[in-house]
Formats: sequence, C-alpha cells, structure tokens
Amino acid sequence: MSADGMTGGPPPSGARADWTIDQAWDRYTADEHAVWVKLYERQSRLLQGRACDAYLRGLDALDLHDAGIPDFRRINGELARLTGWRVVAVPGLVPDEVFFDHLANRRFPAGQFIRRADQLDYLQEPDVFHDVFGHVPMLTDPTFADYMQAYGEGGRRAMALGRLHNLARLYWYTVEFGLLATPEGLRIYGAGIASSAAESIYALESPAPRRLPFDLTDVMRTPYRIDDLQALYFVVPSLQALLDVTLQDFGAIYDQLAALPDLPLDA
Ligand code: PHE
Ligand code: FE
Repeated sequence: MSADGMTGGPPPSGARADWTIDQAWDRYTADEHAVWVKLYERQSRLLQGRACDAYLRGLDALDLHDAGIPDFRRINGELARLTGWRVVAVPGLVPDEVFFDHLANRRFPAGQFIRRADQLDYLQEPDVFHDVFGHVPMLTDPTFADYMQAYGEGGRRAMALGRLHNLARLYWYTVEFGLLATPEGLRIYGAGIASSAAESIYALESPAPRRLPFDLTDVMRTPYRIDDLQALYFVVPSLQALLDVTLQDFGAIYDQLAALPDLPLDA
C-alpha cells in the first residue's frame, strides 16, 4: 500500500465504510497460492544478507511461507502479540484519509488480490504479496511499528495543512524505499525494495543510483519516480533515529518548505 493512493469517494460495493473486506482466504485458487510460493521462494532467498535484521526476524516470526498466501487471521495473532498491529484486507488503493486512519490505529490495509503468474516482476497496484511480504515483517519491529502509527497521525495533519505531497515523499523514501546503514553494510528495510527481485539487488549493488544520508527536509523536497527503479535512496543510520527525527512537530518544517524549491533527482 502506498501513501498517495487517491482521494474521496465512497467504498466500492461489498466493502465496509472503512474500505475493508473479508480476505476470503478459502477462496484463493491453487494457481494464486502458487504465485505466492514462487515469489516467496525467490525473494526470501535474495533477502538473506540484504534485508535488515528487523525485517528478517519479522519474516521468520510470521511464518509467511506456509504453503501459499498467508491467512490474515493466522498472521494477526502473532503480529498483535508482538506490536499490537493487525493486517486488514482492502480491494486495492484506498483514499488517503482512510489509509491514515487505519495506520493511526495500527491496522495495515493490504490488497486482497494477488498478481497473475505473468506479472511476477511488475504491477501497478499493490497486491497481497507487496503488502504482506514487503510491509508486514517490519511491523513486527517495535520501533518501526511506532513510526508507522505516527505516520498515520501525521498524514491527517499534513492533509489539513496542505502538505501531503511533502509527507508522501517521506513515506516513499522510508517505508517503501528505505535503506539502513549497519556495521555489516547497507541493508534494505523498504517494502518496495523488499518485494522486488530486481530492486533488491539494484538498490544495494548497482553503481547507478545515488544513496544519500537521510535528511528530513531533503526527503520532503525530493520528488520520486513510480515507474522505474529508483534514482535515489535515502539511508537512515538506525530505525530509532528515523523515529526520533519524525516525532518533532512538522509544522515549522512545512512552513519552511512552502518557500523552498524541490530538489533534483540527479546530482
Ligand atoms: N511529527 C509529525 C508531525 O508533526 C508526524 C509524523 C510522525 C509524520 C512520524 C511522519 C512520521 O506532523
Ligand atoms: Fe507499499
């Protein structure tokens, strides 16, 4: 699920007022489960030594291979026990205010559907593989769990202040495409990287992208591209440092941003 979904409108028919639906786990077909297994096997192998410890610990704790698409009822027992988060199923992208309300209440909205077998490497809307395999392991980490909840609260505030485009960049460059510096080297924590075979290699090993130290104002001034491998990654020194810097009141930063131009993607 991404931060800049959509605006307005009622939930689609069959969805509840908060846009959730039943996962209807019993209705996934054998072919759909097979897509998960294939993606899971490829990605879990690639992420050893590439994803950060918090991610890999979460992946283990939630037992996400389990012979196919995970049943949210099963994941939620362990996830709630670890950090109080839950995964809820939604039909696809949800309006921003609905998304923020879920996050602020420690509910992560995950696409119910899975991509087709001929779309393993790219799709436009987040599906259950991106949302659950990519995002949910990090939600088992107490620090990251707090960060995501705070983001939900900050989202409502940014909307009211007309600064959502700036805040959405923070989501993009952390929750989706964040890198973490560790003593062993750079590691992945962003879900957009963790759920992509090509990007999980490219983000760490390619000489092409820029990798800059995380700076809150720089991040909020930097646009992003949604249709290709990233040109730029921001590297946090620790998840705690990320949480600490975002706990400050963004009001003054938003005021400054109004007068500052966007930064270019390339140097
Ligand atoms: N501190 C931010 C604000 O004042 C809220 C926020 C927290 C945003 C964490 C993102 C992440 O608006
Ligand atoms: Fe996402």
